[in-house]
Amino acid sequence: MGVLDRRIAIVTGSGRGIGRDIALYFAKQGARVVVNDLGGATDGSGQSPVADEVVEEIRKAGGEAVASHDSVATVSGGQAIFQTAIDAFGGLDILVNNAGILRDRTLFNMEEEDWDAVLNVHLKGHYCCTRPFARYIRETNRLGCRVINFSSVSGLFGNFGQANYGAAKAGIAGFSRVVSLELEKYEATVNTISPGAATRMTIPLIEGRGLAVDTSDPTRGPQQIAPVVTWLASPAGKAVNGEIIHVSRGTVAIMQQPTLIRTFKSDELWTLDQLDGVIPSLLEAKRVCDERAAKEATPELI
Ligand SMILES: NC(=O)c1ccc[n+]([C@@H]2O[C@H](COP(=O)([O-])OP(=O)(O)OC[C@H]3O[C@@H](n4cnc5c(N)ncnc54)[C@H](O)[C@@H]3O)[C@@H](O)[C@H]2O)c1
Repeated sequence: MGVLDRRIAIVTGSGRGIGRDIALYFAKQGARVVVNDLGGATDGSGQSPVADEVVEEIRKAGGEAVASHDSVATVSGGQAIFQTAIDAFGGLDILVNNAGILRDRTLFNMEEEDWDAVLNVHLKGHYCCTRPFARYIRETNRLGCRVINFSSVSGLFGNFGQANYGAAKAGIAGFSRVVSLELEKYEATVNTISPGAATRMTIPLIEGRGLAVDTSDPTRGPQQIAPVVTWLASPAGKAVNGEIIHVSRGTVAIMQQPTLIRTFKSDELWTLDQLDGVIPSLLEAKRVCDERAAKEATPELI
């Protein structure tokens, strides 16, 4: 018996990296898994049957899985991925929106196709895959489902050279907040992961900063994300909704959601002179808040 016994899950982009480890962990915990992956290069070009290899691995270990080679980036692809779960296993309980690509360039050099490709896989991909599932949850009144989305510090904090990726990843956090409200009455949870792991997506970036990557270190590799995603997908995670959980370098953390820190009110239109006084007070309140949060976020060793 595993914590996901007989649950039906889709993990997008699970032919490699973080998604692959989630699919393997889910299967070990008893889930029946749709391993979705287009199998392209990091920039999204090309295709390959990596999903089949993960399905083979799961089956060899005694688990249940089927492959899906559709793209998350189109409405028809999202519908086909959803339909794979229905056809193979007769339902769907868990969707992990993990598929991703990168086209890093500064805004000066970012062409429309770099912008569109990244927004389509990440932000539109979340829409394309989640919408059929949300409609199914409502139509069949399927209770207790889970959606786990993938954001990034690139969008949540900001990262040089990733305006397309950062915009998509920040958009995903907003998407999750809204969908968590819309699915709440079906006892579903919708949460967001902010991962950090050495994968083909990040190893070149880490090495580009002159740092070495030890892929055998479990606190650096993609396998560190799977237990947290599995916990959120399991019955233990039923009360966690609309949160952003950061998992990186052996740490697990909760992120602050956008919130008001300090407020001033006027019954008249603000004058520029008043703002000369008020804005510095707002900035000071934010500095104090950031300082306190940074102190409280120092990792505690378990
Ligand atoms: N690795 C990190 O440190 C890190 C940090 C922040 C966010 N993320 C996010 O985590 C997720 C997983 O990243 P990863 O590091 O494992 O990368 P990865 O490149 O190893 O895996 C991503 C997978 O998604 C698949 N994919 C790409 N486009 C697809 C499409 N249109 N349809 C279906 N599959 C598609 C790829 O073929 C690949 O197998 C991504 O959303 C990424 O943006 C990763």
